[in-house]
Amino acid sequence: MKQAVLVTGANGLVGSKFTQQFADTYDFVSLDISNPLNPVDITQSASVLKALENTQAKHIVHYAAYTDVTGAWKQNGDESGIAYKVNVDGTKNIIAACEKTNKHLIHISTAYVFNGEKEGLYSESDELSPIEWYGHTKAEAERAVTESNIKWTILRIDQPFRSDTQVRPDVVRRVAQGLTDGTLYPQFTNHYFGPTYIDDFARVVDFIIKTDTIGLFNASSGEKWTDFDFAKLVNETLQLNGTVKPGDLDNYLRTLDRPYQRNTAMDVSKLKSILDFELLSVKEAVKTVVI
Ligand SMILES: NC(=O)c1ccc[n+]([C@@H]2O[C@H](COP(=O)([O-])OP(=O)(O)OC[C@H]3O[C@@H](n4cnc5c(N)ncnc54)[C@H](OP(=O)(O)O)[C@@H]3O)[C@@H](O)[C@H]2O)c1
Repeated sequence: MKQAVLVTGANGLVGSKFTQQFADTYDFVSLDISNPLNPVDITQSASVLKALENTQAKHIVHYAAYTDVTGAWKQNGDESGIAYKVNVDGTKNIIAACEKTNKHLIHISTAYVFNGEKEGLYSESDELSPIEWYGHTKAEAERAVTESNIKWTILRIDQPFRSDTQVRPDVVRRVAQGLTDGTLYPQFTNHYFGPTYIDDFARVVDFIIKTDTIGLFNASSGEKWTDFDFAKLVNETLQLNGTVKPGDLDNYLRTLDRPYQRNTAMDVSKLKSILDFELLSVKEAVKTVVI
């Protein structure tokens, strides 16, 4: 019999890869807001608790979030807004239900909990320092998890992309689309991020469940890329024959009405030291992309 695993956000860009890739391994129980037969809205504590009480699953992987960063900025400071309700209240409901049902929470987070001012890679010991509302809500969710009494794991990712196409375009597909139709903006040579290969990340989540690993882990590729170099990699690897022009983040920031993290690359040596498989390099991972 397959082991039952609870999942929120199983229709999303990242979560859907895990449920697809491990369909033969686990029996997934989805807390899914858009399920027509049994919708579960994580902002509703009673339905979250009921869902957790109704299964023998020992783990819940919590991908669900309000992920529209620009949309979140329009709600800046609004704790009754949807971003706060889903990301903070929703996570607190899951924590409370885990406490009552004794389940292990695997919480998916983001490098946007940091301000982006660090020169080098962010490590697990760096303080939370969000600068915009999405990051603020995700940082508050992390705090709720780490201050709880439940068994927990936090996995932080950054700018994820996957081998196959999902409804929501990822960073590789957005760049590829721009290169194909000639609409790609100049790419910053002074903005840095740590692309996360979603296929490998699904394996990381499986590893955490299998080994019951707890604690805080940065879980991107561990590499640091500029937008410009990454767009060139996508152009060359996928043979798109587009043109990548260099851009300047500082010029862009003068036109932007919200804060933007200059660097979200993370150090993943803590995670790598426990994994029983090697993460693909970003170069190798982009080679697997089919568009
Ligand atoms: N994508 C990124 O660039 C990125 C970067 C760093 C970290 N992350 C983190 O990774 C996780 C997964 O992100 P993603 O990109 O896969 O997200 P996504 O594609 O936007 O999917 C979000 C998921 O959350 C579900 N959801 C939203 N509100 C809900 C509610 N009230 N109750 C129950 N479910 C709800 C959605 O359900 P429906 O589809 O049914 O509406 C959807 O399945 C998130 O925690 C996010 O913060 C993402």
